[in-house]
Amino acid sequence: MEAVAVAHPNIALVKYWGKADPSRNLPAVGSISITLDTLTTTTRVRFGRELDGDILTLDGEPASAERSDRVSACLDLLRERRPGLGHAEVVSRNSFPTAAGLASSASAFAALVTAVNPLLEPPLGDAELAEIARRCSGSAPRSLLGGFVELALEGDGTVLRRLLDRREWPLEVVIAVVSRDAKPVGSTAGMELTRTTSPYYEAWLATSTTDLAAARWAIAARDIEALAAVAEGSCLAMHAVAMAARPGLVYWGAPTVDGLHLVRELRRRGTPVFFTIDAGPQLKAVCGPGSSDAVAAALAGVPGVVEVVRCGLGEGARVVGR
Ligand code: PMV
Repeated sequence: MEAVAVAHPNIALVKYWGKADPSRNLPAVGSISITLDTLTTTTRVRFGRELDGDILTLDGEPASAERSDRVSACLDLLRERRPGLGHAEVVSRNSFPTAAGLASSASAFAALVTAVNPLLEPPLGDAELAEIARRCSGSAPRSLLGGFVELALEGDGTVLRRLLDRREWPLEVVIAVVSRDAKPVGSTAGMELTRTTSPYYEAWLATSTTDLAAARWAIAARDIEALAAVAEGSCLAMHAVAMAARPGLVYWGAPTVDGLHLVRELRRRGTPVFFTIDAGPQLKAVCGPGSSDAVAAALAGVPGVVEVVRCGLGEGARVVGR
């Protein structure tokens, strides 16, 4: 009763921010992302009759009560579908800093549900697995697939689709790591504060619908200029609605802002590149195929950037051992 899975973080080009139904973790907006390669979460799950509770080890240390509870809640959703599973020992490792705006919850829960699924009798179908991953972290289902992925709102739930395979448009990503500390306000708390206090929340929801359509078109056309306009717009709108919450949420540091201006300057001079930023200070530069060398070198020179991580587009979550 043991399996190992790997999953990669994804970064949203059209952002998810806000929940329509917090009790089901149903997003208020659809989102479009790219799955990365270099960064990896590897998770081993073992169900054992002798265990009297779930045990989570993260990066070689016993996990905090908060993280352990989230993992147990995810396992409970799987146990609801297949009663009699028992408790689990979960050993997870990230090749990158946890909870610092590098989408560790996405790869964490994608790896977790992917490792558990082959141990279920019978395994869950793709849609049900994606729904469980979404309930654990809204961005996690997107890491189940590789390449360009959309999590669309449909009916009373969400539908996961691949828009393009990673080989069909091999964009490159440079992550300028500004801080390795965990972010001060997690995304769930930040989204709820935004929904309940930001005067721009309704405008944000409306922007998202237009952005999703424009991004789908830009991706199908492999048009990086068009994708740059939508993705930077969606990112800035997400941060704007969050900054207008009371008290306002400012996830950026000074190097984030310097990096943003640098990316725009590089683009103005002809490099196909645009930025995006999630709920943390890291700046992610998305580059056209073969264009990341100059971007990586330029971002490494921004004062306060502590590391530059380079990625290509990655595969979806998969089982790597039994
Ligand atoms: O899945 P969560 O709850 O960590 O939320 C992710 C939110 C953003 O990363 C800021 C945007 C996104 O769509 O990934």
